[in-house]
Amino acid sequence: MPEFYASAIQNTESALCDELRELGFRSVRLNRGGIPFRGEWSEGWRACLESRIAQRILVVMGRNPVSDADQLYEAAREIPWTDYLTSQQTLSVNCVAVGSALRHSGFVALRVKDAIVDQVRDLEGERPSIDREDPDVRVFVYLANNKATFYLDMSGQPLHLRGYREKSGDAPLRENLAAAILRMSGWDQKTPLIDPMCGSGTLAIEAAQWAARLAPGLSRDRFGFERWNNFDEDMMQSLRQLRGELRAAATGQKPSIVARDNDGEVLDIAKANSRIAGVQLSFKNQSILDLQSDGPARTLVTNPPYGKRLSSDDEFLGKMGAVIRRLHGWRVAILSGSSNIERAIKIPPVNSIPLVNGDLDCQLLIYQID
Ligand SMILES: C[S@@+](CC[C@H](N)C(=O)[O-])C[C@H]1O[C@@H](n2cnc3c(N)ncnc32)[C@H](O)[C@@H]1O
Repeated sequence: MPEFYASAIQNTESALCDELRELGFRSVRLNRGGIPFRGEWSEGWRACLESRIAQRILVVMGRNPVSDADQLYEAAREIPWTDYLTSQQTLSVNCVAVGSALRHSGFVALRVKDAIVDQVRDLEGERPSIDREDPDVRVFVYLANNKATFYLDMSGQPLHLRGYREKSGDAPLRENLAAAILRMSGWDQKTPLIDPMCGSGTLAIEAAQWAARLAPGLSRDRFGFERWNNFDEDMMQSLRQLRGELRAAATGQKPSIVARDNDGEVLDIAKANSRIAGVQLSFKNQSILDLQSDGPARTLVTNPPYGKRLSSDDEFLGKMGAVIRRLHGWRVAILSGSSNIERAIKIPPVNSIPLVNGDLDCQLLIYQID
């Protein structure tokens, strides 16, 4: 039975682990960097289609002790790559090497690429080409403490590229980071939710899809495994069936989800994205400073703009903090790249989780406003 590995954005491993368990995957283990699980091959397909939080789904092709370049080459040649790759297809090999005699990731990737290419050439007389951008087959090697693990990447393009975000505003969140934030915020998928600074609508769209059990991968045209040489007519049929089952399993549950921004243009982008994503949200052009706390308590999840401009805008932050302190009974989760926000809110968060958004170190600040 294949062993899979769902890679995670740093510090979202626990959220991903919970998600995979809830989705019914087996032998799911919490692990730094990503979550291993097991199942039939089709479970790897299902993970690509159903996980909101995983970055990629990899399948383990082999594990070997490796202390020099020859051992690495031999270990890589033993794996039956020609089941997946022909000379007519393209390949890329990436590597992370830590704590091993072979220290240079680039060199390790090159030797593994040589082994794979030689294997294909021995069988077919021709070698596959390398394509670093959009290969048919992606191989990933993790070399740690002189032990190499060889993976095939089932996802192809990373899974956060759902296909619904044709355009975006400034600094959009990765879709899988947004999904992880929603889970970490403690939102129960029923309480009315608002993102008052929604930008391209990522948090609100992910929330609506999650509540409706709409599998995020259904809007993706194609995954990496569909380009492999072994992906035949029968598999195509099974995948079509799986897609149909997942579509039918969507509950259509629609809690109230409100997306606001004070930039009309970006709000139009969010509206268009939500249409492509197949979810209904309620939009309004409004400043967060006009947010009212009347009506039932809601969950607020947002990521304000940050960077030099906002972090020095103490007056705005002070007002925003006052608005948030008035939201009695609300749960509030803010992804912030600025420590000034925490100071402006003035009450201690119930939780603070370090996250990386793009290349920016942030904190997810979670409040229960009493
Ligand atoms: C970092 S972006 C949000 C990105 C969003 N999460 C996404 O994935 O696209 C911050 C957003 O806050 C909006 N914004 C700035 N000041 C605001 C205010 N006073 N009220 C409401 N929205 C505001 C900006 O227009 C911008 O779209």
